[in-house]
Amino acid sequence: MQSPHLNPFIFYATASASFLESRVETYVENLEAVFAGEQGILAWLRDIWLPEESEHGRLLKNYVEGTWPRFDWNRGFTLFSTRYIPRCDHSRLRPSPGLEALARCVTETGASMIYRCIGAYAIDPELKALMRRISTDEVRHFRHFRDIHQHYDRTERRTFLCKAHIMLARALLVRSEDLALSFEPLNGSWNGAAPFIPWSYADFLAGTARVMQAHFPHEQAARMLTSPLRTRSIASRYATSILAALVNRQFLNFGDSCTRSYRKQ
Ligand SMILES: [Fe+2]
Ligand SMILES: [Fe+2]
Repeated sequence: MQSPHLNPFIFYATASASFLESRVETYVENLEAVFAGEQGILAWLRDIWLPEESEHGRLLKNYVEGTWPRFDWNRGFTLFSTRYIPRCDHSRLRPSPGLEALARCVTETGASMIYRCIGAYAIDPELKALMRRISTDEVRHFRHFRDIHQHYDRTERRTFLCKAHIMLARALLVRSEDLALSFEPLNGSWNGAAPFIPWSYADFLAGTARVMQAHFPHEQAARMLTSPLRTRSIASRYATSILAALVNRQFLNFGDSCTRSYRKQ
């Protein structure tokens, strides 16, 4: 049975997730501008969401440092932050609070599904338990952002096409930008050699696609993605289920257009 420290997929997946989770303060600063004046939402972001996401970052960092002591996490995180923070500026946020909350529903669904897949693939009981814990939190975050979206949607009344565009675009960003930037510093942040043959970004995408396709919980992902969208008629339910399938495909097809978009940068 292969030890987790010899498994490149486990290293790249947990290290990149640890970077993305540890930047939650940046996400909160951005969201505070979007939800300015909404005291209930601001309090939840600061008092619940931020500490829980920070804890995910801390737990993942501990796992990475404990499993790969020669990996310099702080060096990698500094490099990642230098590239990632400028990409998080306000101009890149969605055009209204309701749509921003909807985009966050996609992010939380994607995170929850990725952690579920890593947990199902992993052999190490410590990692399995960690993935289960974080994934459960992400589902709770998803529900909160869904409620925020539906609260705003009563007045914003965006069309289905507008929401579909937001959801697909956010799912694409998970693949083409978040993951790419968090991968970038990983191979250059070792003191000495890694205990496995280093992967290229294309190798990582192919490995992620294999794990996701083997373990992806399709039904739960579809349920989560359709639930923010109120659907009454049979036609709108049908359209919503097609949208969920398209978003899921963005999460699953790590090996194709994501590689192309990364190479263009
Ligand atoms: Fe998280
Ligand atoms: Fe979350």
